[in-house]
Formats: sequence, structure tokens, C-alpha cells
Amino acid sequence: MVSKQQVALVTGAARGIGAATARRLAREGYAVAVNDVAFEEQLQELAQEIGGLSVPGDISTADGIAATVAAELGPVTALVANAAFMEMQPFLEQEPGRWWRHIDVNLSGHFRLIQRVIPAMRDASFGRIVIITSGWGVTGYPGASAYAASKAGLIALAKGLGRELAPFGICTNAIAPAYVDTEQLAVDAADAGIPLAAMRERYRALIPIGELASPADIAATVAFLCGEGGGAFVGQVLQPSGGVARSRA
Ligand SMILES: NC(=O)c1ccc[n+]([C@@H]2O[C@H](COP(=O)([O-])OP(=O)(O)OC[C@H]3O[C@@H](n4cnc5c(N)ncnc54)[C@H](O)[C@@H]3O)[C@@H](O)[C@H]2O)c1
Repeated sequence: MVSKQQVALVTGAARGIGAATARRLAREGYAVAVNDVAFEEQLQELAQEIGGLSVPGDISTADGIAATVAAELGPVTALVANAAFMEMQPFLEQEPGRWWRHIDVNLSGHFRLIQRVIPAMRDASFGRIVIITSGWGVTGYPGASAYAASKAGLIALAKGLGRELAPFGICTNAIAPAYVDTEQLAVDAADAGIPLAAMRERYRALIPIGELASPADIAATVAFLCGEGGGAFVGQVLQPSGGVARSRA
């Protein structure tokens, strides 16, 4: 349990890894605000379930998310930058608009949010920023160049910010999952034109430990980084991936 009241903001939290993270942090005693651009009803229900706050909005355009959380729960002490836009598309077919959507949401959206939570963290000489990136940001993946580029940018951001903010007591790190069993898997299957079960098998074959990670696995890593043990981690990229070493069979 956290010793004094901490306030967590999790973006993209209506489902998947974000929802599991919000539940986990709430169980650990954080006051939790959940944000998402879609699934408003789910987001509301989750907020109710965990006794938290629902702050719907698009992180690439909405300016008031951090301010709303600060007004309702207090300044954010732990930001989990989890929301992501992802579309598979061969590079040569990539329309500039789709390219920019990846950058605007994944990279610039979180840039804006991080800038807004830092001042209060700096005043308190304490903060945790956890950026959910992706193993594909390390290895790349065919047909996912825009997504992988945005996620690689987030890795560089975590490394740079980690060093820049550490003197103020703010620890910034990234988590790069590989294959996690979330609703996103159905999208991957549709993109690949194969059934969901076959998609699971294709991914499983790449994972030495033999199982896809669960959203709760990633949430546990977030909780670790936000908690006491996270205080020694700065600008690191943690890979709870089951040992994945390559992105394709
Ligand atoms: N599932 C995996 O295998 C996997 C692997 C590596 C990395 N990740 C990363 O983990 C994170 C969560 O993934 P997930 O599998 O739970 O995916 P998901 O699609 O279920 O969750 C992402 C959430 O972000 C929300 N979102 C999208 N654009 C937004 C915006 N502009 N503003 C606010 N919210 C927005 C979506 O509505 C969605 O609810 C993402 O950053 C993803 O890139 C997932």
C-alpha cells in the first residue's frame, strides 16, 4: 500500500492494460483518474468500480485533463502514459494523416500531458512517470512502421526525461510489452486476415515462456515502478515480454 495519498492518472484506461493498471493502483491505495477517448460507458463504470474519477478526452487535443484531476483529486503524482493509436498499414500505402495520427496521439499527446504534470511533481520533489511503449518500438514490425516509430520516440523520451527530471525526485521509465492478451489482439487478427486463435498461436510461438502476458502482468510492472522499488529506476525500459527476442517467426 502507498504510504500517503497518491494520485494516479492512467490514459487509455477504458479497457486492456490501462484498465488493469487502474484497478491495480486503486487496490494499492492510489486515488485513480482514468482517461480514454472512447468507450465512455466502460470508463465511467471502471471509475465507479474503483472509486476513482473518469476524465474522458482525446490526449492529443484536450488540454484540461491534468487540471481536472488536480482539481478533483489533487495533483497527479503518478502518470501512466498508456493510451495508443495503432493501425497496421504497408509503408507505401501509408497516408500522411494516418502517420501523423500515430505521432499526435502516442508521442505528442503524452508530451503535452507530461508537461502539465511535471510542475506539481517538481514542487513536491516526488513523481513517477511510466510510459507504456512497445517491443515493436525496439525491434520494429512489418506493416507497423508509424506505430513503431512513435513507440521508439517514447523510449527516447523516457530515457531523456528520466535523466532530466531525476534531480527533482521524478522517476521516468518506460515499459515495453511484447504480446499481451487484450482486445487489441482481435484487431491484429483482422489485419492479418486470420482467426483470433491462430493469431494467439502465431504470437505464442515467439514467446520463450510460452504464454502471452496478461494485462495484470503489465499492471504489476507499473505498480512496481510507481512504488517504493521504482525509486532507483531512471530512464529504463523494462520488458515484461516472456523473453521475446524477435518480432517475427
Ligand atoms: N496488447 C499488446 O500486445 C501490446 C503490446 C505492446 C504494447 N502495447 C501498448 O500497451 C498500451 C495498451 O494497449 P492495449 O492492448 O490495452 O490496447 P487498447 O487498444 O485496448 O487500449 C488503448 C486505449 O487507448 C485509448 N486511446 C486511443 N487513442 C486515445 C487518445 N487519443 N486519447 C485517449 N485515449 C486514447 C483507446 O480508446 C483504448 O481504450 C498501448 O500503449 C499499446 O501500444 C500493447
